[in-house]
Amino acid sequence: MARIIFCFLTYILLNGQCGCCFSSECIKAEHFLNCKERNLTKIPPSLPEGVKSVDLSNNHISNITSIPETSTLRNLDLSSNGVSTLMYHAFDNLDNLETLILSNNNIEKIADDIFVWNPLKLEVLRLDNNKLEFIQHFLLYDLDKLQELDLHNNNISFIHPHAFAHLSHLTRLRLNGNNLFTFEHKWISGMKSNFMTELKFENNPWSCDCAMTPHVKWMKSAKWFQHLIHGQAFTCQSPASLKDQNILLPTVTEMNAAC
Ligand SMILES: *[C@@H]1O[C@H](CO)[C@@H](O)[C@H](O)[C@H]1NC(C)=O
Ligand SMILES: *[C@@H]1O[C@H](CO)[C@@H](O)[C@H](O)[C@H]1NC(C)=O
Ligand SMILES: *[C@@H]1O[C@H](CO)[C@@H](O)[C@H](O)[C@H]1NC(C)=O
Repeated sequence: MARIIFCFLTYILLNGQCGCCFSSECIKAEHFLNCKERNLTKIPPSLPEGVKSVDLSNNHISNITSIPETSTLRNLDLSSNGVSTLMYHAFDNLDNLETLILSNNNIEKIADDIFVWNPLKLEVLRLDNNKLEFIQHFLLYDLDKLQELDLHNNNISFIHPHAFAHLSHLTRLRLNGNNLFTFEHKWISGMKSNFMTELKFENNPWSCDCAMTPHVKWMKSAKWFQHLIHGQAFTCQSPASLKDQNILLPTVTEMNAAC
């Protein structure tokens, strides 16, 4: 009891930092483990029972091995850690995880099977500000509860046409700030009925050549899509004659001429 009170007081005094104590008493008061900026180099070996949110951001955990078993964990923040390795079983224990934040790391590749076993209840996945180069067909295949997928500011040059096809609950998708040349309407054409609220495509080197023709045609027929991209700098970077033009402007003749 004294410990709970102590923790509660330090929580208030230290502005939300209930220490990085791994005692269950401490956590039951808050259900929140704040281990932000603790110079940690490893995932803690166990997590307190009942914990719902764990903030491990701004540490030095470069290798995400396995997050300890906890059926209560809903939110996990691993942002700003210099993460470069995600072991294939990293998230297998997280039966009820809803939010996974991996923003601001050094992730270049994610193995296809990493999200197969878990976290199957994931609703928010943030992988922005990493170094991803491609999104393969089956990477997100099992995450069919996903509502938000943030991939902005990576170096993605390839996304499989069906990479997002199973994400029937997705409402927010951010692909801005990547290295994408050809838009593929199959990424999102099935999402009309998801009631999308956010789509971001700006800051990519979009090439408005003949490969883009069928996709721009699709864009011109999809009002819901036009509504969501309205006002963003979703523009052609090449060919030179179409540089900085809004993606919806080039004609079929202009695009076909550029090949
Ligand atoms: C983390 O390491 C830095 C640099 O060595 C140090 O200044 C800082 O006080 C450490 N923080 C904690 C919470 O130990
Ligand atoms: C990450 O940790 C696992 C388990 O300790 C180890 O087998 C693997 O070699 C490590 N990977 C890197 C790149 O450090
Ligand atoms: C981005 O990816 C390309 C390959 O598509 C590679 O040549 C380049 O070095 C990468 N850039 C960075 C900053 O990682």
